[in-house]
Parts: sequence; structure tokens; C-alpha cells
Amino acid sequence: MRVGLIGFGSIAEHGHLPALQSCPDVEIGAIADLSADRLDRARDLLPAVSLHASPAELIEQAQVDVLDICTPPHTHAELMVAACRRGIGTIVSEKPFVLSEEEYARVACARAESGARVFSVNNWVHSDLNRRVTDVLRSGMIGKVRRVVLRTGRPDIALGNGGWQPRWRTDPAYSGGGIILDHGWHQLYLLLGWIGQDLESVSAVTRTIDPRHYPVEDDAAVELCFASALGRIELSWIAEGRSNEGEIEATHGHIAIFDERIVVRTAMTERVFPFAGRLTQSSYHPDWFQKMFEHGILDKNREEADRTFAEAGILVGAIGAAYRSARDNGAAYRPRIPAFVQEESVSGSLRSASSPS
Ligand SMILES: NC(=O)c1ccc[n+]([C@@H]2O[C@H](COP(=O)([O-])OP(=O)(O)OC[C@H]3O[C@@H](n4cnc5c(N)ncnc54)[C@H](O)[C@@H]3O)[C@@H](O)[C@H]2O)c1
Repeated sequence: MRVGLIGFGSIAEHGHLPALQSCPDVEIGAIADLSADRLDRARDLLPAVSLHASPAELIEQAQVDVLDICTPPHTHAELMVAACRRGIGTIVSEKPFVLSEEEYARVACARAESGARVFSVNNWVHSDLNRRVTDVLRSGMIGKVRRVVLRTGRPDIALGNGGWQPRWRTDPAYSGGGIILDHGWHQLYLLLGWIGQDLESVSAVTRTIDPRHYPVEDDAAVELCFASALGRIELSWIAEGRSNEGEIEATHGHIAIFDERIVVRTAMTERVFPFAGRLTQSSYHPDWFQKMFEHGILDKNREEADRTFAEAGILVGAIGAAYRSARDNGAAYRPRIPAFVQEESVSGSLRSASSPS
């Protein structure tokens, strides 16, 4: 399986590359990056790889089975469309998958024309801790989920590598927005999967507290309404330290999520599940990526590709609604779910990897 990597920055070097190298029968065949420093780094690590200073050149010339896109968000849609047109069979894009409903529609058209399997990166689903939460919910031991709250705190943005623009996360031309798109994306797919119902409305309040983060939001609270459940995501780039935590209330019990353990309570029992790694340990977690590549991408699993693609459509609609709400003082907005995703939902392929049902 020959893999081409576009964007050889922090997540490509420390997350995707070690994950791919630990999967059997994978060869990194080509790497593209705009930065000469990053191409030098790729040459140091992988002397035999073919290097491209232009992503278009890699897409046109390299013979790859899988294209793995790890560039900043503003490039994802354009690169996925080009890869579909080139006939690459398996395409993976980092989060946020795309930045708008319009970009999503363009990728959906190119994907339909080419028949490519297009995967949206969902590495947080594959952490041991989050998998255990999913298993507990699937087991039915705490009943039906009624409320999920997830919180992410970081003391600042994660800097991009020094070879390009380390502060791209605060420039909307590259990032498309602030912490909702950056960390909220992961928390949203976890929450949607655990609640497992159609999202009805979204409201959000955002602020920019640290002037270094202007003009994007560095603090956000997003409320999500479902037919018989509520969700809330709290995000901050001005926290004192790194934190990830949350809670899940269900009809017959409760899960408290901490950085390195979960506590599952029912009327009769309390069980603590500890984990060797912490959620906040780093931004990379190659073991989560390894599971993501093995579960669906490298085994060319059409169902998982379609599921993550449809899920990305819901996330784009939800985040669009959150930003509209934030501009309208927190009013509730119904997400615009792309037509393609509604059709998929009807045909039943939206069952989430992290859904309890
Ligand atoms: N899934 C996760 O847990 C996770 C974690 C971190 C970052 N990310 C995502 O990964 C992507 C990259 O983030 P990063 O932290 O590695 O950033 P980074 O700045 O370290 O790396 C981005 C790289 O892309 C290159 N680049 C920029 N524009 C390009 C273009 N048009 N063509 C080719 N190369 C280009 C830059 O030179 C740079 O080397 C972002 O979408 C980010 O949101 C995901």
C-alpha cells in the first residue's frame, strides 16, 4: 500500500508517520510540502521517498493508493477534489475536514464522480479511554444517554511547525475559525456518536479573551439539542493547563470522564477504569492514529469511509450553526445538514463508530 502525504508538519511527522510506519505492508511513497525545511526533514527521516514542493505535482505524478492530507484547513477541500479527479482510490483528510457547507458539497460531487473512499480523520474515537466509554454505553448498563458535557482546556493554541506559519490557527484565512473548529471538531464527533440521535439545534457563545488570538475565538460554549438529550461542549485556549474531562448522564447511571480514567456509576455499583496514557499527554497520540488507519482506511472499508464522510457533513452543519448562533448572541440555529448526508442517514449508513446503538 503506497501512501502519499501532503503537508509534512507537526501532526504528519509525530502522529500520522509513526502510525503508518507501524502498520504492516505500508510504504510512504511520496511527500509534498510548501516548506523547503519540511522537505529536508522528510528527506532526513525517509531518504528514499519522492519529494514534491507542490501538492498538485504529487497528486498528478505520484503513484499512490492512499493520499493522506495533513495541511492546514483552508487547503483540504481543494486537495480532496484534485485527488478524486486524479482517481486516487483512498483519500484521508485531517480535521476540520472542510470549512463550510459549500466546500463539503464540492467534495461530495467529486467523490460521487470518482467513487473514491474519502475518510475524515476521527482519531479521538480510537483512544482507549474513549473506546471504553463507547463500550460501556453500547453495553446498555447505564441506560439511555440524556446529557453529555465535554470540556477541553489548553493554555494557548498548538503552534504549527516553524517551517511554515506557526500561528496559522489564529488566522481565519488558514484556519477558518478558532477553537470550535480546532478542538470542537473532535469533541463534536464524540458527543454526537455517544448521544446517537439527530441533532436538532445548536447555540454558541464565543469570546476572544487573549489579544494574541484575535480575531478568532479562544473561548466557547456550544449547546446542542437532540430529541431526548442535551449536549454541551466547553472549550478554552486560555486555560491554566491542559485538560480534558466530561460527564455523561444516562437513565440508569453516569460516567465521569477524567484525563486518565473514567468512573462508571449505577445505582448499585461504582467502577473505575484507569488508562496508561492521558488524553492530554500530547497533541499527537500515534497509537490512536494507528487504530484509525487499521480500522477502515488501510483495509479499504467502504462502510467506514461513507460513515466518516457523512459524519463530517453533520459536523460542518453543526459548526456552521454554532458560528451563526455566536454572531446572533447565542440564538438557537438548526444545522444545515448537506442533502447528501440526509440521504445517507435515510439509508442507515450513519451508524457511528462511537454510537451506543
Ligand atoms: N487529528 C488531530 O489530533 C490533529 C492534531 C493536530 C493537527 N491536526 C490538523 O492537522 C493539520 C495540520 O496541522 P499541524 O499542526 O501539523 O500544522 P503545521 O503547521 O505543523 O503543518 C502544516 C504543514 O502544511 C504545510 N502546508 C501549508 N500549506 C500547504 C499546501 N498548500 N500544500 C502543501 N503543504 C502545505 C506547511 O508547510 C506545514 O509543514 C490541520 O488541519 C490541523 O487541524 C489534527
